[in-house]
Amino acid sequence: MDDRPTDGTRDQNSADVVELTGRLLCADLTEASTVRQHLPEHIALTRAEPGCFRFEVEPTEDPLVWTVVEQFVDRAAFDAHQARVRTSRWLEATAGIARDYVISTRDSLDEVSAVTPSPMLRRLRASDAPAVHAAFGSADDMARQGDVTTLAEAERYVARLLAEDSPHEPWAIAEGEELIGLIAVTVDEENLSGWFWYWVTHRARGRGLTARAAATVAQWALTERGLERLELGHRVNNPASGAVARAVGFVKEGTERGKFLIDGQRFDVDTYGRLRTDPAPAFDSLPLRAGE
Ligand SMILES: CC(C)(COP(=O)(O)OP(=O)(O)OC[C@H]1O[C@@H](n2cnc3c(N)ncnc32)[C@H](O)[C@@H]1OP(=O)(O)O)[C@@H](O)C(=O)NCCC(=O)NCCS
Repeated sequence: MDDRPTDGTRDQNSADVVELTGRLLCADLTEASTVRQHLPEHIALTRAEPGCFRFEVEPTEDPLVWTVVEQFVDRAAFDAHQARVRTSRWLEATAGIARDYVISTRDSLDEVSAVTPSPMLRRLRASDAPAVHAAFGSADDMARQGDVTTLAEAERYVARLLAEDSPHEPWAIAEGEELIGLIAVTVDEENLSGWFWYWVTHRARGRGLTARAAATVAQWALTERGLERLELGHRVNNPASGAVARAVGFVKEGTERGKFLIDGQRFDVDTYGRLRTDPAPAFDSLPLRAGE
């Protein structure tokens, strides 16, 4: 499996996609329980790695056996994954468990994307905490999205968003079951307005996914959810956030000068709004599954 360094004798082109398939074979129920305990964090951390396209570890009918499929964009990404795992809690806990796997290469990313699950939007769940933890660790710019540096903090972050009296409407961007980003609206019921915010784990960025997901949630908020105004703000040194806002049909309404003090430097914040009556942008919507 992923956590055993390969012997380096295979003739693999470094530009090829590396695929590992195989099984994790526990000797008894104690080992199986160790796998169940550590697997969610291991999966979330691996999927947050920039070069990871696919990482599936699925239970089988045999309670002692899991199937494994991993795909990394190239040999360097696969090696980086193995290097990270060597010092991980996962390997510390499961080093003695048997693995049976083969490593091969695929010629192109097209073959890989053909088996990557399509993204969709679903409600945030308590079980998303490990993926939230991994996302916050995936890029330095996540530090300003909340205080999440441990799994316990991620659990509290998710619990706050899901609390019964929470004003938040959080939607997970998911690939398969795995959360890879969040689009949320913090609702002001009195004014039928909402503060709109979003983040995406590092490996999922630059694909136009946030823009599609945010446009889908904005449409939901301004129709089904019944809000009449959405608003957001972003630091002027975060152009990606502004680009997402404009792609979602937000209109720039102003600039709050010198709003934040970060590392001794003051930053302006651009503010945006979108009214229910504003023209909706053309966009390629994501499936929005309220019941999942
Ligand atoms: C902001 C963020 C959500 C963008 O996610 P993303 O998935 O890369 O965005 P998309 O791929 O959907 O791109 C949307 C637009 O942003 C543009 N963009 C993406 N990264 C950019 C960058 N670094 N600089 C300038 N524009 C950028 C894209 O070109 C695209 O513009 P277009 O619609 O005109 O083509 C992501 O960088 C992130 O999570 N950042 C940390 C959290 C954060 O800052 N959230 C916003 C808080 S205000």
